[in-house]
Amino acid sequence: MAAPRQHALVTGATGGIGRGICLALIAQAQREGHALHISAAASQPGEKLDALVAELRALGISAHGVAGDITDPAQCARLVFEAHGHGGDISTLVCNAGKSGPGKLADLPMAEWDLTFNLNTRSAFLLAQAAREQLVRTRGSITAVASMSGLSPHPGYGAYSAAKAALIMLCRQLAQEWAADGIRVNTVCPGMIRTPLTEPVYQDAETLARREALVPLGRIGRADDVGQAVAWLSSAAASYITGQNLVVDGGVSEHMLAMIPGRPGKPPVQH
Ligand SMILES: NC(=O)c1ccc[n+]([C@@H]2O[C@H](COP(=O)([O-])OP(=O)(O)OC[C@H]3O[C@@H](n4cnc5c(N)ncnc54)[C@H](OP(=O)(O)O)[C@@H]3O)[C@@H](O)[C@H]2O)c1
Repeated sequence: MAAPRQHALVTGATGGIGRGICLALIAQAQREGHALHISAAASQPGEKLDALVAELRALGISAHGVAGDITDPAQCARLVFEAHGHGGDISTLVCNAGKSGPGKLADLPMAEWDLTFNLNTRSAFLLAQAAREQLVRTRGSITAVASMSGLSPHPGYGAYSAAKAALIMLCRQLAQEWAADGIRVNTVCPGMIRTPLTEPVYQDAETLARREALVPLGRIGRADDVGQAVAWLSSAAASYITGQNLVVDGGVSEHMLAMIPGRPGKPPVQH
């Protein structure tokens, strides 16, 4: 008997990492020989979303675009409803849309705090609630895209670290509460990933080299590095994994202790 068609709703699909997730899900479906429908979600309809949907269809799957501002609770419910209308019960919910903004906590406006939490954290809670019944029927999974900034404080990034840390804990709690229904919930934490969002930083050769030097694996991450991690966590190969956080950062977030100068056996630092 052919494997049932899977249906992935991916938020932030028009962004660098979101597109990488869609492409990795398609490659995985083709390797495993199951049909796939992708509901590609963005904040608004338009050319960017249409172009992505056309690209995904050209790769041999069925796809639709769904649009809405997920900082608005009503839009979260509507996106899930519309996705179901196009692709049937959701089996894979990927909460990827998110954003960081500059800001110091000393004078961070409350509106900025709320926006950061509503986009990066609350939307995942509301999308998960809206998709829950469908995920129960498919014994599906949720994977949320957090950040290494959710593992360590990131000064100057406003509420972003707190929001991503809360997202990781939200998913750990969902994993515990929904495991009995067969729903798995995990997060991935990207490190420094080269996407259209971060591209301006990497256009500066010196900044690129300094950033690469911080990464034990010696390069900045790509969208497909994150995409493959998300696809794997959503696959049957990960069917016994829930409540976990997979860090996709080339080793950079564990690297701090290696940077302390004056280690035993090393020459003293020259000034
Ligand atoms: N890039 C990195 O180095 C990095 C590192 C760690 C974590 N992350 C996380 O990875 C995720 C994706 O990042 P990215 O670099 O791919 O970002 P990106 O290229 O800027 O894409 C962001 C996506 O989120 C959507 N989005 C933004 N605000 C939204 C809203 N209010 N409602 C609905 N959708 C909204 C955008 O849709 P529109 O195009 O329609 O606006 C876009 O599809 C984020 O959660 C980010 O925090 C990124």
